[in-house]
Amino acid sequence: MTDTQTTKTTLEPIPPLDLKAQWLSIKDEISAAINAVVEAQQFILGPQVQALEEEVAIYCGTKFAVGVASGTDALLLALHAAGVGPGDEVLMPTFSFIATADSVTLLGAVPVFVDIDPSTFAIDPAQLEAKITPRTRAIVPVHLYGHPADMDPINSIAQRHNLKVIEDNAQSIGAKYKNRKTGGLGDFGCISFFPSKNLGAYGDGGMIVTNSESYAKHLRVLRNHGSAKKYFATEQGWNSRLDEIQAAILRVKLRHLDNWGAARRKNAGSYSQLLKALPGVVTPVEASWAEHVYHQYTIRVRNRDHVQSALTEQAIGATVYYPTPMHLQPVFASLGYCEADLPHAEKAAKEVLSLPIYAELTSAQIHRVVAAIAAAVR
Ligand SMILES: Cc1ncc(COP(=O)(O)O)c(C=O)c1O
Repeated sequence: MTDTQTTKTTLEPIPPLDLKAQWLSIKDEISAAINAVVEAQQFILGPQVQALEEEVAIYCGTKFAVGVASGTDALLLALHAAGVGPGDEVLMPTFSFIATADSVTLLGAVPVFVDIDPSTFAIDPAQLEAKITPRTRAIVPVHLYGHPADMDPINSIAQRHNLKVIEDNAQSIGAKYKNRKTGGLGDFGCISFFPSKNLGAYGDGGMIVTNSESYAKHLRVLRNHGSAKKYFATEQGWNSRLDEIQAAILRVKLRHLDNWGAARRKNAGSYSQLLKALPGVVTPVEASWAEHVYHQYTIRVRNRDHVQSALTEQAIGATVYYPTPMHLQPVFASLGYCEADLPHAEKAAKEVLSLPIYAELTSAQIHRVVAAIAAAVR
């Protein structure tokens, strides 16, 4: 065995996310919550879902919340309720997870990709108006990595052009824009409860928050086969429901979310302090109007692939979200975008690297990650 192999096998892995450590800290509460649902024998759209909807609405500062089967479905149903249909255009940042655009194309509508503000990674409001056409119906700002998009200019443009605003808040529950929670800043806020999210279920789940009673009512019909009344469908709908076990788990976790968020912010502060001395490493910004929840702690670095491999060698899980902007994904080739069309997003895709940031990460682990980056960029 060589020296390198010996070192590799003795290194304690630092995974990109450690959900087991989180579970161990709340194990008894989770088990009790699951048991209570099994005892009650009500599994779909019951009291746990209703209670979670009320709690998430209060948490996000909105009047209503509607549980659905995933974050993707939250976007899909919100877009449909907003009136987006075949041939309509929807503006969105190109730098996001593919679900932001999938939900639009599933409705027969067309995603129109916009470049990002390179400092926040969110849609650049200054580039929106040039892309509006008579077919534009909505804007989907994405609060990427846990940092809000700059919502005031986005909402003003939407108002001027009579467009709906659907926030993709999949990654940012709890983040604040000018002291208000994201998700409650547009017409609809779409949350994902995918297990790796800051508020993650033990399976798929999602929720839409809104201040509009009529939208909330419509979304409840859409998620349940277009039926407000049992076995009486008034329109085409979906089967997109949140189940009771997931809701019960999420209710436990929601009680811990702000503490976990504080720990993530503390870890982010430690990373930024330690990384600022390293040449060529750009640490994430928090805009003066923002409170970041660090779903990801994402640095920019030259030779990103080399740095990522060096971290892997040290048993450190660092991840690239996202290596290909949506306008260059093969699935959207027919839309006719080319390289260099949206240069800030294309540059970000080559430079970003997300480091482990979960609440349970220790100071020693943070120092080890930073030391490995220092060695790689030297
Ligand atoms: C930005 C963004 N939008 C949408 C989604 C879709 O959420 P889900 O995986 O719950 O369908 C995700 C998460 O996976 C996401 O990160």
